[in-house]
Amino acid sequence: MKHEGKILDFIKDKFMIRKAEIICTMHGRGMGFYSNKAGMVCSQCIEEKIKATPVFDRKSHLIKISKIPIRYHKPLIENKITTQLNAYINDFQKNNWKHLFLTGPTGTGKTHAACWFGLQLVEQNISVYFGRASVILDNIKQAYSTNENYFYQLTNEFDVLILDDVDLLQTDHDKNKMSDLIRTRYEQLKPIVTTTNMSLPELSKVLGARTGSVLSENLEAISTKGMPDRRFGG
Ligand SMILES: Nc1ncnc2c1ncn2[C@@H]1O[C@H](COP(=O)(O)OP(=O)(O)OP(=O)(O)O)[C@@H](O)[C@H]1O
Ligand SMILES: [Mg+2]
Ligand SMILES: [Zn+2]
Repeated sequence: MKHEGKILDFIKDKFMIRKAEIICTMHGRGMGFYSNKAGMVCSQCIEEKIKATPVFDRKSHLIKISKIPIRYHKPLIENKITTQLNAYINDFQKNNWKHLFLTGPTGTGKTHAACWFGLQLVEQNISVYFGRASVILDNIKQAYSTNENYFYQLTNEFDVLILDDVDLLQTDHDKNKMSDLIRTRYEQLKPIVTTTNMSLPELSKVLGARTGSVLSENLEAISTKGMPDRRFGG
């Protein structure tokens, strides 16, 4: 900055900041600063405050806000979908992204694959949000009463949205809201990951043909069909 020195001098002058010998109740007699705003400030106290201030760690922050469940914070054991999944991630990181559709029977690792993908992205500084569709809908309802911008965060702010069990919706209202969420993200050109036990045509019956069409426009479908149910020791 061109006038940095002059600006600093101006601030020092304005707030009368100058070095001063001070007496601190913690550290006794020593050096510090005097300013008309803060009065006497001890150098050692300032140093201790700086040391105690946590350094903002973006990766930990991204992991925390991703809401990826602890169960899925573990490596992905290689299986028949890993080659396809890795190729997909590779393209994604080259900005050549598609929506991801993970389909297959229960216990075959769809949620695990979605979360593993999410954690890979967090490593690359990409923001991800994970939620079971039914939980997301509950949160949306709650956010209405507290006036939070939860829906907007999901549609516009997170780089990637993972909708787990996207087919498990009870009421028409829930189905419409989920369609709305998907289509708003589509309009914002933002990737969506879905996991479901259904095929895309079956899901289109739940969410409506237009939402199905939106999802299928730019879609990588990965099927875990034929893989063992890991919950039964498969
Ligand atoms: N490739 C894998 N490596 C390590 N663990 C795995 C893998 N695939 C699945 N698992 C584990 O197996 C269990 C079941 O997987 P997961 O929850 O992803 O199944 P799912 O297909 O999402 O089932 P559902 O349709 O019921 O939601 C989990 O504990 C998961 O961590
Ligand atoms: Mg699952
Ligand atoms: Zn002190």
